[in-house]
Amino acid sequence: NMAAPPITAEELEDLREAFTKIDVDNDGVISKDELDAVLKAANLSLPGYRVREMIQELSKSSEELNFDKFTEIVHGLKSAEVAKTFKKAITKKEGICNVAGTSEQTGTQHSYSEEEKVAFVNWINKALEKDPDCKHVLPMDPNTNDLFTAMGDGIVLCKMINLSVADTIDERTINKKKLTPFTIQENLNLALNSASAIGCHVVNIGAEDLKEGRQHLVLGLLWQVIKIGLFADIELSRNEALIALLRDGESLEDLMKLSPEELLLRWANYHLEEAGCGKINNFSNDIKDSKAYYNLLNQVAPKGDEEGIPPIAVDMSGLREKDDLKRAELMLDQAERLGCRQFVMPTDVVRGNPKLNLAFVANLFNKYPALKKPENQDIDWSSIEGETREERTFRNWMNSLGVNPRVNHLYADIDDALVIFQLYEKIKVPVDWDRVNKPPYPKLSSNMKKLENCNYAVELGKKEAKFSLVGIAGQDLNAGNRTLTLALLWQLMRRYTLNILEDLGDGQKVIDDTIVSWVNDNLTRAGKSTISSFKDGSISTSMPVLDLIDAIQPGSIRYDLLKTEDLTEEEKLNNAKYAISMARKIGARVYALPEDLVEVKPKMVMTVFACLMARGLRA
Ligand SMILES: *[C@@H]1O[C@H](CO)[C@@H](O)[C@H](O)[C@H]1NC(C)=O
Ligand SMILES: *[C@@H]1O[C@H](CO)[C@@H](O)[C@H](O)[C@H]1NC(C)=O
Ligand SMILES: *[C@@H]1O[C@H](CO)[C@@H](O)[C@H](O)[C@H]1NC(C)=O
Ligand SMILES: *[C@@H]1O[C@H](CO)[C@@H](O)[C@H](O)[C@H]1NC(C)=O
Repeated sequence: NMAAPPITAEELEDLREAFTKIDVDNDGVISKDELDAVLKAANLSLPGYRVREMIQELSKSSEELNFDKFTEIVHGLKSAEVAKTFKKAITKKEGICNVAGTSEQTGTQHSYSEEEKVAFVNWINKALEKDPDCKHVLPMDPNTNDLFTAMGDGIVLCKMINLSVADTIDERTINKKKLTPFTIQENLNLALNSASAIGCHVVNIGAEDLKEGRQHLVLGLLWQVIKIGLFADIELSRNEALIALLRDGESLEDLMKLSPEELLLRWANYHLEEAGCGKINNFSNDIKDSKAYYNLLNQVAPKGDEEGIPPIAVDMSGLREKDDLKRAELMLDQAERLGCRQFVMPTDVVRGNPKLNLAFVANLFNKYPALKKPENQDIDWSSIEGETREERTFRNWMNSLGVNPRVNHLYADIDDALVIFQLYEKIKVPVDWDRVNKPPYPKLSSNMKKLENCNYAVELGKKEAKFSLVGIAGQDLNAGNRTLTLALLWQLMRRYTLNILEDLGDGQKVIDDTIVSWVNDNLTRAGKSTISSFKDGSISTSMPVLDLIDAIQPGSIRYDLLKTEDLTEEEKLNNAKYAISMARKIGARVYALPEDLVEVKPKMVMTVFACLMARGLRA
């Protein structure tokens, strides 16, 4: 005789709703004869004789039928006869809450998913549990709207961004004490510009949306931030053991082209195959019965063959459970023993919520990849290169503009130039979409179709954008020639940046010198040293950047936190981290990384000053 699973918060809400419907005078008690009505209101159908029996039973005691008694009764039923109908009653509701009028521009209704909110709240509560700076809002209650209020001052969001991509936000730049509307605004700027810098698409979301807790926007941004963190290590260059997933006849390059989602699916199937089970095609329909999950957990659980990690034997008896929801609950109990009960509730498994199940699996992978780097002689390890800082910056930049598909691998994912065309549109170069081949490409001529696109992309660059593309052909983009692809991407990013300045300056043409002289003018008037160009050696200390920030927003830089002379490499990096975060905090959407300043990379240095100038012109 199995104990009934506890009533979830969501179910409880449904029961409460039903109870209030019947409890018309609102005194918290209903008549025992109304049991039938309240069960019906909760969509729990029982045969009439059963209900009559229960009412008889109730009337023997002097206890009143209040809400607690009602849930107790339902809990008793849950293990037995109504389990099926109960499940139906709650799965009927898709868990989508409608929020009216959250977007003033369009007046449309936006919906957000209640279960996502619950999942993210639990994840954040755990991730920031020990962070003293979040004590004022944590732990949040997943059953309320705590999350949306808690996000309002920007601190939690900054922390989550920094957890997803370590060292993105300099601790010193977050305003933590005695918050005012102004310092909150700064935190939100810092959060949004940093989110953008790690590749979140933040074009349609502003500080106001966070401050006012617009649910669908907050959840959308959080999901992006969390996903970037979860996916960070699902990448061959970060985890060479992923080579174990290579299939016969496949090259390393093929494997490296897979998106994190594809790699996860392959990883799950690798373990399922080892367990002698059938494959799954997705983390929605195919995992609803928890059977694949059971086998996956069993495969990846520590076996005691690694020093210092005690074995955990997964109890598979729940596989015999007939009811999907109960089986899911039992499976999650096992996940809990592995410390991996995250993101999904039993109902999310049974409904196959794709987003939350993806997160569940990604987290499981991160904790227990259970892959061994094969001792294969044929593998050329040197060909597995991680991406360079420059490549990452370009990739984050285009992703933050919302290109579709998202670019996971710089060269492979733009080999059909579709993303390049979207970037052309962002810099106001018109694209004739009739000339563009679109996926799915025919199998036999797929590369030819992509190449045609690449040729057109180069043509647009030369003729319309007037880029300098000497010696670049469509072939180079298509084949992913690094140097030449980067040359095109740089010109796109540069033009994008200059366009912003030109728009602010009423269309006046802007070149590098325009920026240098604006910067120097501002620095001079503030009584600071100037720069000779974007290659000026003094930039490696970040002082010119910091001085400019302080000139644009006087008093913003805390010089007492900085070393300004005779800096070691470490101190330079320390200044640079502070400078980049401060730039974002005063409202400049900077994509460059601290190392770019320390090493005085002229291109990235140019973008930093250009973004600050844009911020200055907007002031
Ligand atoms: C960001 O992450 C780095 C490295 O993990 C850490 O040193 C720093 O304190 C973190 N900053 C914030 C604001 O949490
Ligand atoms: C998941 O895969 C199954 C086949 O294994 C398919 O029937 C189903 O439509 C897929 N669901 C989604 C959402 O892709
Ligand atoms: C990329 O193109 C440049 C210039 O044409 C050439 O020198 C280089 O060898 C190419 N790289 C690869 C990997 O083909
Ligand atoms: C620097 O530029 C900003 C923005 O244009 C302006 O508000 C500020 O006064 C300037 N600083 C100095 C010292 O001129």
